[in-house]
Amino acid sequence: MADLLLGQVIRFVGDPFIEGTDAARHLDRGAVLVDGGRIAAVGDAASLRLQAPAARVHDYGRALISAGFVDAHVHYPQTAIIASWGKQLIDWLNTYTFPEEMRFADRSYADDIAGRYLDFVLARGTTTVCSYATIHPESVDAIFTAAQARGMRVYAGKTCMDRNAPEGLRDTAQSAYDDSKRLLQKWHGVDRLSYVITPRFSPTSTPEQLAALGALWREFPNCLMQTHLSEQLAEIAWVKDLFPQSRDYLDTYEAQGLLREGALFGHAIHLTAREKARLIEAGASLIHCPTSNTFIGSGLFDMGLAQHLRVGLATDTGGGSSFSMLRTMAGAYEVAQLRGQSLHPAQLWWLATQGSARALHAEGQIGNIAVGMEADLAVVNLASTPAIAQAAARAGDLWQALFPTIMMGDDRAIEAVWVGGAKVNKS
Ligand code: GUN
Ligand code: ZN
Repeated sequence: MADLLLGQVIRFVGDPFIEGTDAARHLDRGAVLVDGGRIAAVGDAASLRLQAPAARVHDYGRALISAGFVDAHVHYPQTAIIASWGKQLIDWLNTYTFPEEMRFADRSYADDIAGRYLDFVLARGTTTVCSYATIHPESVDAIFTAAQARGMRVYAGKTCMDRNAPEGLRDTAQSAYDDSKRLLQKWHGVDRLSYVITPRFSPTSTPEQLAALGALWREFPNCLMQTHLSEQLAEIAWVKDLFPQSRDYLDTYEAQGLLREGALFGHAIHLTAREKARLIEAGASLIHCPTSNTFIGSGLFDMGLAQHLRVGLATDTGGGSSFSMLRTMAGAYEVAQLRGQSLHPAQLWWLATQGSARALHAEGQIGNIAVGMEADLAVVNLASTPAIAQAAARAGDLWQALFPTIMMGDDRAIEAVWVGGAKVNKS
């Protein structure tokens, strides 16, 4: 049976970094008709009620119906070490991250965290994530099995590392290739799951491993490839030592066939002019992780790049300090302010939905409300706390009404979540 959701509706018909607010559409008394897991119609509540008289009605009042959030860069195995104190990137990896990732050799621990993580993000309105697993193949099985059970569209891959990581957390060029290929063949395209080829970053991969994963990507050109790029200055200096033959950090990937459309580069803060030009020319995606960049002390992403290439938004759990894409939009706003750029609420909302979907090359399936798209939706209460409600009460338009929730909202603002056309039971 079809479901008819009533409320305010926000959707996009263009890119607000190019077209401004003309790229967004707002229905004050709107409706979304969901049937067979997809969006069957979107329009005024009154006319859709007439069009679908038999549909089950879910009246969300003044709440805002949006596409579910798309978190384009996370490490689900870092769920339990979120908000760990006092370290910058390399120390943070060695002190907190690697010991925790070691535990994922145990499949039951991986299952436990994968389920916990996906329930956390669903409660915050996030319906798709693109995740790193650990080097253990079982950790990939765990996240895909948990996503499958929840009907979610999820992207993930085995993290490959063959140097500069502790014993027990290293593979080899050959085993990374073999394990990644086996997992890709097992999971890619099954239900709503996609495999992502995942070298962690150049400091933990030899050129031989990067080359092996470049070869794998040539065999399976339709999948995505994710890694990290130019997050912190000490990391960049380390890459320079490890790859003396490379022109710059990006070149360590480019030289091994890891730079083209479908490449997702997390962080990408401290870029040279050559790197920016090559990323744009190659059609790569950059993933901005603002709460991570301030929490780990990395730097300020240049959102001006969003006019030239695909930019997605992400929490970077657990380097990021929140599971919430609302908090992450607030982080993006604050980082941009520190660079003298004021991101409009339309741009922030687009980054967390359609922008991230576009970075994952999934903009035709998720991240927007349009006929035929998969029905992954978040219903957002724009007055979820007294402090937010009193600020929103002053609003003269949708954007002013939305901005207090962007800046101060959390899981309490998420009134309902729909995944693949089914309402999620809040845990
Ligand atoms: N660079 C390489 N690995 C990681 C990671 O797990 N988190 C972050 N923030 N940066 C990384
Ligand atoms: Zn990361």
